[in-house]
Amino acid sequence: MRGTRTGLRTLSNMCGIIGYVGEQPALEVVLSGLRRLEYRGYDSAGVAVVGGGVLRTARRAGRLANLEKVLDESGEQMPGTTGMGHTRWATHGGPTDVNAHPHTDCTGAVAVIHNGIIENFAELRSELEAAGHELSSETDTEVVAHLLEIEIARAAAAGPAASSVSSGSVSSGFGQPVASEHPVTEALRVVCRRLRGAFTLVVLHRDHPGVVVGARRNSPLVVGLGVGEAFLASDVSAFIAHTREALEIGQDQVVEARPEGVTVYDFDGTPVEGRRYHVDWDASAAEKGGFPYFMLKEISEQPEALADTLRGRLSSEGAIVLDEERLSDQDFRDIDKVFIVACGTAYHAGLIAKYAIEHWTRLPCEVEMASEFRYRDPVLDRSTLVIAISQSGETLDTLMAVKHAREQKARVLAICNTNGSTIPRESDAVLYTRCGPEVGVAATKTFLGQVAACLLVGLFLAQTRGVLYGDEVAAYVDRLQRMPELVRRTLGTVEPVRELARSLADAKAVLFLGRHVGYPVALEGALKLKELAYMHAEGFPAGELKHGPIALIEPGLPVVVVVPSPRGRANLHGKVVSNIQEVRARGARTIVIAEDGDTDVEPYADHLIRVPATSSLFAPLVTTLPLQVFACELALARGLDVDQPRNLAKSVTVE
Ligand code: F6R
Repeated sequence: MRGTRTGLRTLSNMCGIIGYVGEQPALEVVLSGLRRLEYRGYDSAGVAVVGGGVLRTARRAGRLANLEKVLDESGEQMPGTTGMGHTRWATHGGPTDVNAHPHTDCTGAVAVIHNGIIENFAELRSELEAAGHELSSETDTEVVAHLLEIEIARAAAAGPAASSVSSGSVSSGFGQPVASEHPVTEALRVVCRRLRGAFTLVVLHRDHPGVVVGARRNSPLVVGLGVGEAFLASDVSAFIAHTREALEIGQDQVVEARPEGVTVYDFDGTPVEGRRYHVDWDASAAEKGGFPYFMLKEISEQPEALADTLRGRLSSEGAIVLDEERLSDQDFRDIDKVFIVACGTAYHAGLIAKYAIEHWTRLPCEVEMASEFRYRDPVLDRSTLVIAISQSGETLDTLMAVKHAREQKARVLAICNTNGSTIPRESDAVLYTRCGPEVGVAATKTFLGQVAACLLVGLFLAQTRGVLYGDEVAAYVDRLQRMPELVRRTLGTVEPVRELARSLADAKAVLFLGRHVGYPVALEGALKLKELAYMHAEGFPAGELKHGPIALIEPGLPVVVVVPSPRGRANLHGKVVSNIQEVRARGARTIVIAEDGDTDVEPYADHLIRVPATSSLFAPLVTTLPLQVFACELALARGLDVDQPRNLAKSVTVE
């Protein structure tokens, strides 16, 4: 026995993956790729390199630094120019050395790394054990290594003719055409057909240097196309330092990468064309650029990120332009209701969108957490528009909501930050937020991009349906395009917010209140504080407070209130000022976010944070900023890592 089986189920999810084949030392390429991917998951890491007829692996629990230390101290040489690496984020079971990837088969010839969940792994494992295979880890991944072992042996026994399905008939992503399907490729696609669930897999074989093979279903995999080298990765940041040419891999496809070319097949072995694209940002965008944390850099990048989202959205004919549109204007005119599906911060952007979409289009609009959407059997048909918002484009809850919507014939429009990711590919129309890479786990600049994109979609719908005239839409866009400057001004005034956050580092809890679009902003402020500072924080509609949560108020409790404009929403403004008085009367320490010139709040604000005046629907683009800074600074004051908060991963590819 190589190990013992426990009843514990350890699954591998949301991980960072990189595979490399070329002329450079693979270990260096893979480790530098993993450093860029570590934000995806960081509870263990591992590498494998093929060279000189040997497959060498190393893996360690903990952050990538643990693995690098072990490699340095052991002086372990891993020569070879074919390799792969993995950072893991597990949902169940301990992040131990044994459960870290890569996983190997009984012979030690096959190594596998994996992102996702293989739902039928228990039955596959029983089958393998009954056949005499010895599995050493508790992971679902390891079954794949053993299934590949069987499949490769079976094909070898059957002879060369049987192991190549389509000799000479291939599509090459770049470089010279590749001759025929490799035995490892064939074995992987055969094995993939047996797997249920979501997976990205990358495979190396000891006896086949110069080839790295990958496959995907409901989980991200992108190919980097270099000169004489290729990369397989969870996202482009892993290889952006080497190449900006990329190839999308579709659902249920296998990719075979060699230095001289890349070939893609479906799971039946039919060659398919991948879609090539150029990545429009470079390696410097994914570096800290002098900031101690990515999050601080990304907060500061918001004026440019917002400007990039908004750039070029109005055509010369005065029409709002989406990035991809596979629906006709008539399809949009036929829409009679809108659902927005998203998770976490993207869900909060969706809540803001509802106010704009209903106001501008007069269409009913519901916002739903993607994880709940399909389970309650929503009423959908071809006149329903589902808007899916996702920074990563890979969030499985959102992807499944999209698939459900399409099965019910609804139209799907994606708002996404990641070109080539799954959610936009599964959608009928796409608007990219173009905020550049966001490495900090907590969403900041992409939230602003999502809010702006939602506003654009609202204007697009209103225009297409004839509810707003072209000049009205142009006036809104013009005002929106002035927002990056207001964002810049707001960020220039947040130093007192940092001081305030530091003074509250020992607080036990913080409440956030808002009304109208201030309510989603309050939710977002609370989420940021929870995820970064590990502090109890709740967001409430200010009017709802008196129906229960006001009992939480005790002397000294910090309560942040997002105040609507006294000009735009005069009736609401008065009510929120009353709400501030209510909590202050019960001893709360009030932190009030109000627009310049709003003097009504002054008597009731223990701390007053000013933001520039803007129209009501655009206000979240500035009121959110102090809350991001507040959470980030408070977490730093508590000595926490704001880029990689505990238990979280940037891209959540499990349901
Ligand atoms: C919070 C955060 C998460 C994400 C959520 C959805 O700061 O980042 O709540 O917003 O996991 O992720 P995407 O937008 O990639 O679908």
